[in-house]
Amino acid sequence: MADANVALIGYAFMGRAHSNAWRQVSSFFRPRLQPRLKVLCGRSRAGLAEAAERFGWEDTCSDWREAVARPDIDLVDICTPGDSHAEIAIAAARAGKAVFCEKPLANSVRDAERMLAAVRKAGVPHMLCHNYRRVPAVALAKQLIEEGRLGTIRHFRGVYLQSWLVDPAAPRVWRLDRGRSGSGALGDLGSHVVDLARFLVGEIAEVSGALTTFIKRRPRPEDPTRMAAVTVDDAAAATVRFANGALGTIEATRMAPGRLNHNRFEINGSEGSVAFNLERLNELDVHLETARSPAQGFRTVIVTDRTHPYVDAWWPPGHTLGWEHTFTHTVFDLLEAVADRRTPSPNFDDGVKNQRVLEAIERSSGSRRWVKP
Ligand SMILES: NC(=O)c1ccc[n+]([C@@H]2O[C@H](COP(=O)([O-])OP(=O)(O)OC[C@H]3O[C@@H](n4cnc5c(N)ncnc54)[C@H](O)[C@@H]3O)[C@@H](O)[C@H]2O)c1
Repeated sequence: MADANVALIGYAFMGRAHSNAWRQVSSFFRPRLQPRLKVLCGRSRAGLAEAAERFGWEDTCSDWREAVARPDIDLVDICTPGDSHAEIAIAAARAGKAVFCEKPLANSVRDAERMLAAVRKAGVPHMLCHNYRRVPAVALAKQLIEEGRLGTIRHFRGVYLQSWLVDPAAPRVWRLDRGRSGSGALGDLGSHVVDLARFLVGEIAEVSGALTTFIKRRPRPEDPTRMAAVTVDDAAAATVRFANGALGTIEATRMAPGRLNHNRFEINGSEGSVAFNLERLNELDVHLETARSPAQGFRTVIVTDRTHPYVDAWWPPGHTLGWEHTFTHTVFDLLEAVADRRTPSPNFDDGVKNQRVLEAIERSSGSRRWVKP
């Protein structure tokens, strides 16, 4: 089996999730390329050495430029905040590496387009980490829709609700600084909903959006006695029209008490409906009009059968999967695509389209009009 040498940039939350996926993938799936955890890259040398040892990386590097330039690296995995995605991805593409990037692709449409142009020009495979496409229950929903079992899709209702900013004393971390994150709940959580909407229903043709910031100043992380401005939205909501005629709603907030990682959607077609909630990710609620019976209604399908997407590689039926498995599925599909020198989905083209929808929601919020992405 040939190797794919990986350089991973950023070793905190997503760096840990991706490291786990790279370590785990060959123990369960049989990718034609064997990932080698070659170099872990971050800015603090002390934290980096410890993380590399815990996560299983061979080498460390405190400047991403060095990691990207190394001739022994095949694939660059970007797990940093959005303000550095474009620079790292473009350098990686120019160095001929496959590029895997965390969402949202960039902090602006312009940067996302530059990234897409760079990977296309270099002819390298590229992928965007919207890992929720690869929850088995979501992949099953996609299968049911593609098989026409829900008929013509009419409604998409997607929400992504978290609560970690409810407390006004929560510090103003990088996610609340527009210069670093591009936007707030919109790009952080709403980008996942937009990706699921595009994946399951189709392209979004028009949006009417509203953004709001409830808490405008928060304590600085490095000195809580001083305050700093919050320069992003706390909450985003939009009504959307799909190109295929479906109507949808998208909502994202990090200020919903009691909601931890509540990424939920419901899709209604002329022949049936599906409903999913990430907090119960082994389940898909399905209602099919065709199964006519006096006991008709939603059924909860436990999506852990060997016939369900991705499940065959794991455990016997009913031995549930978790959030981290979605990253393993994602890197498996990426490795297979790199082996074929093709680009998987979602990729930087999806990232550009997603970013255009996010930007349209922002513009619509400002103008109070419907906007085309
Ligand atoms: N797919 C998902 O479900 C999901 C979940 C959370 C975050 N994300 C995305 O992942 C990305 C990272 O988020 P996170 O939660 O891991 O953030 P984080 O703050 O936990 O980690 C960011 C890491 O990047 C490092 N870093 C920042 N700038 C750097 C630079 N110039 N060079 C090297 N390292 C640098 C930081 O030191 C830190 O280690 C963001 O784009 C975020 O939107 C995706």
